[in-house]
Amino acid sequence: MLVIGPASPALGRRIKKETEIDSVEVKSKIFPDGEIYVKLDGDVSGKHCTIVQTTYPNRHLIELFFIQDALIENGARSIKVIVPYYSYSRQDKRFEKGEAISARAIAEHISLHSDAFYSVDLHATGILDYFKIPSHNLSSMPLLAEHSELYDPDLLLSPDEGGKDRIRMAAEDIDKPWDYLEKTRIDGKTVEVKPKRMDVEGMTVVILDDIISTGGTMIEAASKLYEMGADEVHAGCTHGLFVGDSLERLKKSFDSFFCTDTIECEQSEVSVAPLLKEKILG
Ligand code: R5P
Repeated sequence: MLVIGPASPALGRRIKKETEIDSVEVKSKIFPDGEIYVKLDGDVSGKHCTIVQTTYPNRHLIELFFIQDALIENGARSIKVIVPYYSYSRQDKRFEKGEAISARAIAEHISLHSDAFYSVDLHATGILDYFKIPSHNLSSMPLLAEHSELYDPDLLLSPDEGGKDRIRMAAEDIDKPWDYLEKTRIDGKTVEVKPKRMDVEGMTVVILDDIISTGGTMIEAASKLYEMGADEVHAGCTHGLFVGDSLERLKKSFDSFFCTDTIECEQSEVSVAPLLKEKILG
């Protein structure tokens, strides 16, 4: 039984179509005081259940915890949790004294009422170790690489060294050259991308990252590439958070940009449903 969470309705329905398994939708509302209510819209008693629910923004994280509780309360036989975009993944360790390890707190809570966990392009795969149940990270890079081929790129690029393995994987999949830029984060909204000796003159470049949040990283990378003579610059990411006015700024900065449906939005041109399908049936 597929349990389609309120954060992932389109993805959930795509998975349902591909797997042809029964599903239950989840009703959710917010009370005037801000508290959240969820209700399963069907019978899960005795069923092996798989929840699909992204945890961004915060409301959807709380919903996930309540959906797990509702499944236990209503007699589900087993529970798999698929969180296509796992929020707080950038707070995966204590960077400064006094901080919480937010990604661990969430993992421990999810583990309380589930038998297995899956996510897509976790920002830090070390998070898997925080789970007390079997936990898995799936890569959407082959899907993003395939989509990038539409632009006939000369080069695939990561905006920072942290994405080196991801970009190599994508580039090898479609047999294209790859490289990465050197990025320094100044603060939450500002990054600096160092110009690098790299010949992009007249080229079509596709930049791929795991997350676009404020768009700062991608926009800075694009401006460097155009300065260096790139002909076309396209951007793709797995998780499009697109906070504030970043969508508008991204539209002005790139020839095009796209993301997957781990967070559903107008730019979700690539679906991770085929990736998740086999995990649900397995
Ligand atoms: C950071 O290491 C991530 O991979 C992304 O590059 C980052 O989260 C993007 O954030 P923003 O869009 O705010 O620059």
